[in-house]
Amino acid sequence: MTTLTPVLSRNWDRADSFTLAAYRENGGYEALRKALTMQPDAIVDLVKASGLRGRGGAGFPTGMKWGFLPKDNPKPRYLVVNADESEPGTCKDMPLLLANPHALVEGIAIASYAINSHQAFVYVRGEVLHVIRRLRHAVAEAYEAGLLGKDILGSGFDLDVVVHAGAGAYICGEETALLDSLEGYRGQPRLKPPFPAVAGLYASPTVVNNVESIASVPSIVANGAEWFSSMGTEKSAGFGFFSLSGHVKRPGQYEAPLGVTLRELLDMAGGIRDGHRLKFWTPGGSSTPIFTEEHIDIPLDFESVGAAGSMLGTRALQIFDETTSVVRVVRGWIEFYAHESCGKCTPCREGNSWMVQVLRRIEAGKGTQEDIDTLLDICDNLLGRSFCALGDGATSSVTSAIKYFREEFTAGTHTPAWELFPYQRTTRW
Ligand code: NAI
Ligand code: SF4
Repeated sequence: MTTLTPVLSRNWDRADSFTLAAYRENGGYEALRKALTMQPDAIVDLVKASGLRGRGGAGFPTGMKWGFLPKDNPKPRYLVVNADESEPGTCKDMPLLLANPHALVEGIAIASYAINSHQAFVYVRGEVLHVIRRLRHAVAEAYEAGLLGKDILGSGFDLDVVVHAGAGAYICGEETALLDSLEGYRGQPRLKPPFPAVAGLYASPTVVNNVESIASVPSIVANGAEWFSSMGTEKSAGFGFFSLSGHVKRPGQYEAPLGVTLRELLDMAGGIRDGHRLKFWTPGGSSTPIFTEEHIDIPLDFESVGAAGSMLGTRALQIFDETTSVVRVVRGWIEFYAHESCGKCTPCREGNSWMVQVLRRIEAGKGTQEDIDTLLDICDNLLGRSFCALGDGATSSVTSAIKYFREEFTAGTHTPAWELFPYQRTTRW
């Protein structure tokens, strides 16, 4: 039986958990002190050995990404933390930043030292003003205590950190669109390669990492690579947040080893709401193909979820019981993608708005077999033909929902939303 592994969340019950004093009482910034006595390359090797993989969704090995920075490029190096969390269902980085911002600040200092960067940026999604304020407060506390700025802890290492507020565009979570936005341009994805590691912010070598990835680094430095890799599975090491939302009794953040199953998480979360049963769920947000009850015992690690036909993504587990219309949920997600499409490439710009129209017709009970074929055809023209992952991700829920619940797309039995939620009748439902 898997149990929780509260590392980043261990202090969250304290009302003052976000303060420097509370963080330091629990050994905070001791990992930074230790790291500053190590050779930078030794820290990169340590993170490689730990097996830490990017926690923003793609799962790229973090230490390997740091190791990609070219050694012979004389330009300044940058660390950019991606805190533009916007994936529907994904809600781990914001609570982490609210409750434990110093884990990120300490991680930034260690990672910057390891990659020889003297300037770091945190790009936070613009809508979360309370998170931005809290993070800025933590950064100010760290400057005050000599943990950022000049000659950190007497080591001779200098680092400045800027907390930058985005303007609320989902696409700016795509790393190259984020860099464009940070440079002051309209946020649209760049062609890769070159990857940011080679030509990123201001065309300089740049590491872009997710909040949770960087916040995990101090614990690895403090406890060692073996400690980290002793949790999780061989290829998906360590722990991570599993964000449960929807029709579950106790929604929230469950910090557990990778490889935990939904059944185990549901046990911890009190189960599905009384009198109901699981119908479908997302393993990692709305960009990942949905799962059904039959997948409840699949280990939630990168390999097992992939082998079962989905992606671990951001471990955003949105749980839906049998009262939910899968067509309505998918229509809502595709409206989101149509709204957030940056418009740069035709398959995504056109395909998503066409899918919204077809899905609205199906939801109204007027779906036909041809509509299903049209949806699958649009997905076929999006997947692998879009400029960035947004277009690919949009197809996941459509194709998987048709695979598992094909009959619902032609059944015409979707209770109108205004009957289910009469108080929302004045909205765009
Ligand atoms: P990706 O697989 O293209 O890249 C992952 C990372 O590895 C990037 O930082 C990339 O620069 C780096 N990388 C890959 N190959 C490299 C190479 N040869 N050399 C140097 N660096 C290399 O994935 P991407 O497009 O960055 O992210 C997609 C994922 O993001 C999806 O799987 C989805 O789960 C997740 N996502 C997360 C959201 C959130 O709110 N957290 C929102 C939307 C998607
Ligand atoms: Fe923009 Fe969508 Fe194309 Fe990505 S896939 S570049 S979001 S239009």
